[in-house]
Amino acid sequence: MAPFAAQVFGHPSGHHRQARAARQAVEDARDQVAELLGAAPGEVVFTSGGTEADNLAVLGVLGAAARRRAGQETVVVSSAIEHAAVLEACRAAAARLPGVEHALVGVDTLGVLDLERLAEVLAEALDARVSLVTVMLANNEVGTVQPLSDVVALTRRLAPGAVVHTDAVQGAAWLDVALAARGVDLISVSAHKLGGPKGAGALVVREGTELEPLVVGGGQERERRAGTHDVAGAVGLATALALVAKERDAEAVRVGALRDRLADGLLDAVPSVTEAADRKSVVPGTCHLCFEGVDREELVVLLDEAGVCVSAGAACASGALEPSHVLAAMGVPARIARGSIRFSLGHTTSPADVERALAVVPEAVARLRG
Ligand SMILES: Cc1ncc(COP(=O)(O)O)c(C=O)c1O
Repeated sequence: MAPFAAQVFGHPSGHHRQARAARQAVEDARDQVAELLGAAPGEVVFTSGGTEADNLAVLGVLGAAARRRAGQETVVVSSAIEHAAVLEACRAAAARLPGVEHALVGVDTLGVLDLERLAEVLAEALDARVSLVTVMLANNEVGTVQPLSDVVALTRRLAPGAVVHTDAVQGAAWLDVALAARGVDLISVSAHKLGGPKGAGALVVREGTELEPLVVGGGQERERRAGTHDVAGAVGLATALALVAKERDAEAVRVGALRDRLADGLLDAVPSVTEAADRKSVVPGTCHLCFEGVDREELVVLLDEAGVCVSAGAACASGALEPSHVLAAMGVPARIARGSIRFSLGHTTSPADVERALAVVPEAVARLRG
């Protein structure tokens, strides 16, 4: 990234030598991202991250569908546990675009999509009316991997006119997206979930998918996303994806073992703790635990003071924690969800980090319960 942030100042759409160097970097990054995601280079649209990719997928497809259908009703179906970047985009589409409805499909108590319910919703909506089905590859709070190939198969059978989108922002660090999202029409990724830069991402848009741009202007990205490219960001995304692909299998084993050590250690050491999901269907880097009788915000503060950084879910603009829509969809009682936190493990996590957490967490929980 460094040369493109500091030395190559050319504009990738320009015509001189510096511009050509910048354009070549973007196109090389595009080739790399395409290959790693199982797409053709022309199907990759660089964005400012996962949020923009999700918004472009949802609002872009529904914008095109609403225009094509000229006010007739059309449905977007999403899982109930999508990231806000998808859920809010679906809600915005329903609020802004004439005739668009949003249907939610729930999950089981372990956070995996209810496929029977998806089939019912698709059948009820009468195939021609569903424009978009959007289901994430892996959930960002509890880590559950979703049955994407079943989602694709059901959609093709029951709503053949619909487009399938997956938010692979969390899944891409642990799964081969080209395989896991085979047959999917739109795929969102974000560089910073892969150790790349913040503010860079991409949306794969399969050839033939109708999509209205959200950002218009200079016609970049084949009219799908205008604006001067973030050259260093594109290079960073491609490099992060390539490094992850090289190390993914070994890292999944290493980090999965660390996660198991952490989860088992805490389940042993602390009374009244439950795991939110079934580890067999969770990506290796996620460990989501519910500590009964504890306030998660207080736990985050205590752990932070002890040098352990954990997440307690999304904060709203005021800084207060929102109740988790993911845990609610899984039927976790509010009393339990109140004490639930996520430990994220990754490339930089060492055995010593896990031992540190094991030494610190039981004491912090005991203090709060006391
Ligand atoms: C599943 C999921 N989708 C989308 C996003 C948003 O991506 P970005 O932060 O690149 O905008 C996130 C970020 O946490 C995420 O976890």
